[in-house]
Amino acid sequence: MHSSKPTGAPPATLLAAVESQLTTATDAAGSELFLLRLQRWWPDLHDGLAAVYGSRAEDTAARLVQLATAAYAAREPDLKRLDLVRSLEPDWFQQPAMTGYAAYADRFAGTLAGVADRVDYLRELGIRYLHLMPLLRPRDGDSDGGYAVADYRDVRADLGTVDDLRALARTLRESGISLVLDLVLNHVAREHRWAEAARAGDQRYRDYFHVFADRELPDAYEGTLPEVFPDFAPGNFSWDDDLAGWVWTTFNGFQWDVNWANPDVFVEYSDILLFLANAGVEVVRLDAIAFLWKRLGTDCQNQPEVHAITQALHALTRIACPALLFKAEAIVGPADLVHYLGQGAHHGKVSDLAYHNSLMVQIWSMLAAGDVRLAAHALGHLPPAPSTTAWITYVRCHDDIGWAIDDRDAAAVGISGWAHRAFLSDYYAGEFAGSAARGLVFQANPATGDRRISGTAASLAGIEAGDERGVPRLLLAHALAFGWGGIPVIWSGDELAMPNDPHWADEPGHQGDNRWTHRPRLTEADLDRRTDAGSAAGQVFGGLRALIAARARLPHLDASVGSEIAPLADPGVLPVLRRHPLGAMLGLYNVTDSWRCYPAWRLDEFGIADPQDALAGTPVRAGEDGNLWLAPYQAMWIV
Ligand code: GLC
Repeated sequence: MHSSKPTGAPPATLLAAVESQLTTATDAAGSELFLLRLQRWWPDLHDGLAAVYGSRAEDTAARLVQLATAAYAAREPDLKRLDLVRSLEPDWFQQPAMTGYAAYADRFAGTLAGVADRVDYLRELGIRYLHLMPLLRPRDGDSDGGYAVADYRDVRADLGTVDDLRALARTLRESGISLVLDLVLNHVAREHRWAEAARAGDQRYRDYFHVFADRELPDAYEGTLPEVFPDFAPGNFSWDDDLAGWVWTTFNGFQWDVNWANPDVFVEYSDILLFLANAGVEVVRLDAIAFLWKRLGTDCQNQPEVHAITQALHALTRIACPALLFKAEAIVGPADLVHYLGQGAHHGKVSDLAYHNSLMVQIWSMLAAGDVRLAAHALGHLPPAPSTTAWITYVRCHDDIGWAIDDRDAAAVGISGWAHRAFLSDYYAGEFAGSAARGLVFQANPATGDRRISGTAASLAGIEAGDERGVPRLLLAHALAFGWGGIPVIWSGDELAMPNDPHWADEPGHQGDNRWTHRPRLTEADLDRRTDAGSAAGQVFGGLRALIAARARLPHLDASVGSEIAPLADPGVLPVLRRHPLGAMLGLYNVTDSWRCYPAWRLDEFGIADPQDALAGTPVRAGEDGNLWLAPYQAMWIV
């Protein structure tokens, strides 16, 4: 990282250029607003760029401000109004009424127009945020579920057009649902225009990628690089005949990592970002953000430059389209995770949202072990997230589950990290005695012993296998995610307890990737099952609706307040304390299939008088033994 002293104000020449660029495009008030934002966010933009691009920062900043000015001038009045509304209510996404849903547009509803037709369904559930999986035009054939983008300014033809996307964003906005889209910024498809130009020998575009003439540097990097897809895409570099070189490909061979050390790449992605914001996207999911910066001798993840880059991108959007939020997709170990929400110098300047991968892993770990001690230690030792941010909490997503259990956390509770990870893989693959889980092993890596797991939440919870504890387990898993604070996001199909798709491999291009087993298609018949109280679908749908409604009534769940782990009593009960200025909230979660308890006197200690269980809607009463008793897999939200 370059170091330079922080900068105060944009250069006068730049301000003059912006003013003249805006005179024809907006009125005096609009101009003034933009200039105020530019002044407010300039230091973050400039310093972020300076940390990465050194002497090229000034020139890059000037190019970016020009793009931001043009984007602002072209921004629809409706979206400019949204910018104001969000600035007046900057905590809008931290409020407990926020609940999200994530889906592939085609699998959820056929097309973008189909998604608009299912807005009522989403509203019935209580959804305020909709993440549609990659829908910008991917390469033909296998595209890693759309994560190999061939054109960021075009929509997948079978889903609709860019105009349909704008129309959907508007419909959602009018229904109080924020549209979330991916910005795949670590790599492009081998068929993207930049990669094609590089392959055709254009040096400008060759410099957009990491290309090596021989194996010397790739081998040196491989010494410390892990493999993301050891099974179907081993190694991190791919030979390309057209390039006559090795190109960096962290994921699949057809996903070329771009070179963020090149400021031209920064400018390109900035332009794409502004395009998405102006199409009505309210949250961008920064895909695989941890991998952006490469450094020899490291695992090339979580490098400090990643945060400087995010800071500069974030400042740029604050200037042009401040309604836009950033969500970091960094599936990294607990120690690195909080940095994506901003620690130290980047506090409050990077992503607004980040996936709580640790919580997700610990939820499944607690359910398998029937024991909360590891989770209590790991979650209890996470540094606090900045109060202006929120976690994305979730039980499942479109990806496999990697057992991100830290060896030190495991050792602290007297178990072996390696053995516990192996147990979790066995358990969720249904290979452990007594396990009703029906997961599939993903990316078994003989070199490390790693085995990740695919499968829907219902199949992992035992519902597919007909275990009667399945529904309560699935609801408890969601209660844990929904009671943590942040935006809980439901993965499409989980609200209907949909099992693994046994035909996942039938679709061309999907054969090698069993993550498709948990990316179900939702038919009308599937949706209709939500009203059948006798079915798992009906019970889970009803249970989730109740959780969402209870959340919305609990200001204690506002994301500005963090969760703490309260002192443990029974190793089967996780106590989660939230000290909100309005009063404390204690979440109790029994992760076992037997009755378990928690001492009632703790409520006094936490200052909870006249305790009510917000989930059951009833007063909380201790048993004669002075304990609060929880039924198998019961959750209580006590306020
Ligand atoms: C993210 C996505 C995953 C994809 C990868 C490469 O981790 O969630 O599905 O394979 O990025 O884009």
